[in-house]
Amino acid sequence: MTMLLQAEGLRQYYPIRRGAFRAPAILRAVDGVSFTLEQGKTLAVVGESGSGKSTLGRMITLIERPTGGHLQIDGMRAERAGRRERRTLRRAVQMVFQDPYGSLNPRKKVGTILEEPLVINTKLGAAERHERGREMLAKVGLRPEHYARYPHMFSGGQRQRIAIARALMLNPRILVADEPVSALDLSVQAQVLNLMMDLQAEFQLAYVFISHDLSVVRHLADEVLVLYLGRPAEQGPNRVIFDRPRHPYTRALLGSTPTVDPARRRERIVLTGEIPSPLKPPAGCAFNTRCPHATDRCVAEPPPLRPVDGRLVACHYAETMA
Ligand SMILES: Nc1ncnc2c1ncn2[C@@H]1O[C@H](COP(=O)(O)OP(=O)(O)O)[C@@H](O)[C@H]1O
Ligand SMILES: [Mg+2]
Repeated sequence: MTMLLQAEGLRQYYPIRRGAFRAPAILRAVDGVSFTLEQGKTLAVVGESGSGKSTLGRMITLIERPTGGHLQIDGMRAERAGRRERRTLRRAVQMVFQDPYGSLNPRKKVGTILEEPLVINTKLGAAERHERGREMLAKVGLRPEHYARYPHMFSGGQRQRIAIARALMLNPRILVADEPVSALDLSVQAQVLNLMMDLQAEFQLAYVFISHDLSVVRHLADEVLVLYLGRPAEQGPNRVIFDRPRHPYTRALLGSTPTVDPARRRERIVLTGEIPSPLKPPAGCAFNTRCPHATDRCVAEPPPLRPVDGRLVACHYAETMA
C-alpha cells in the first residue's frame, strides 16, 4: 500500500475586493479538508456547484498553493516544494477536465497533442514518442488512423478519451478528473467511466474524481468526500456513505437519484432554496438554511466533523439519521 495523497486541514481563501476603501472580504472556497488516498484507489469529491471541488482539484494539481493546511503528494510536501520538486510533482499529478474540447488545441492533430508532454518533459526521440503516442491511443480505445486527425473530428466521448490519453503520457501516479463525464450522454458516460476503471487497474492510478452527481461515482469510488460550501459534510468508505448516509445533505444528494431497491428507500429530502453565498455562509451549520431537520442548535453551534458509524460526519443529529 502506497499513500499518494495526504491532505490535512487544507484551505483556500480568496480575498474579494470591495472597493478602494474597504478591506477585502474573504471567500473560503475550501475550508479545512482532510483526506488520504492510496495508490490504485479513487477518492470521489462530491457537492453542488460552488462547493469548492475544482478549487481542491487545483491545489492537488499544484495550479494553486493552499492558503492553509498541509498537502503531501507522493511523499513530498506540496506547500514547501521548490521549483524542481514542483516540476517532479507536476508530472506525477495530471488533470482531466469536463470540457475536453476546450482543453484540446483545435489546430493540432491528435498525435501532436499526445506527444507534446513528451517533447516538453523528456529527451525521447521522434520515433519513440510516436510509438508511445500510438500505444496510448490504442489503450483508450481509439484507432491508429485517429492519430492524424483534429479534435473537432471526434465525438465528445472520443475527445474525452484523447484528453485522458494525453494525461497519461508521462506515467502519472495521480489523476484528478474534474467532472470528466458531466458533459456526455448517459450511455457515453458509462463507456468513459469503464475505460477509466480499466486504466486505473492497468496503471495502478490513484483518482481524485470530482462530480456534482453522487450517482456517477457510485461504481468507481473507494472513498467519498461530500463538500458543502467548502467544508466536509460527510466522508467515508463508499458502502458506508451510499448505504447509510447520515448527513441530511448527503441524503438529499442521493435523493435526486432514484433507488430501485424499495427496502433502501427512505424519507426523501429534496434540496430546496439556493446555496447561500460562500462570502456569507450561515452561522452554525452552513446547511441549516436548507435542512428539514434544523433546530436552534444548528443555527447557534457549528457541528464538528466527528466519527459516527464508520464515517466522519458534521451534523449534530447524525446518530438519529440512520
Ligand atoms: N480564483 C477565485 N477567486 C475568487 N473566488 C473563487 C475563485 N475560484 C473559485 N472561487 C469561488 O470559490 C467557490 C468554490 O468554487 P469552485 O471550487 O469552482 O466550486 P465547484 O467546483 O464545486 O463548483 C465559489 O464560490 C467560487 O465562486
Ligand atoms: Mg467545478
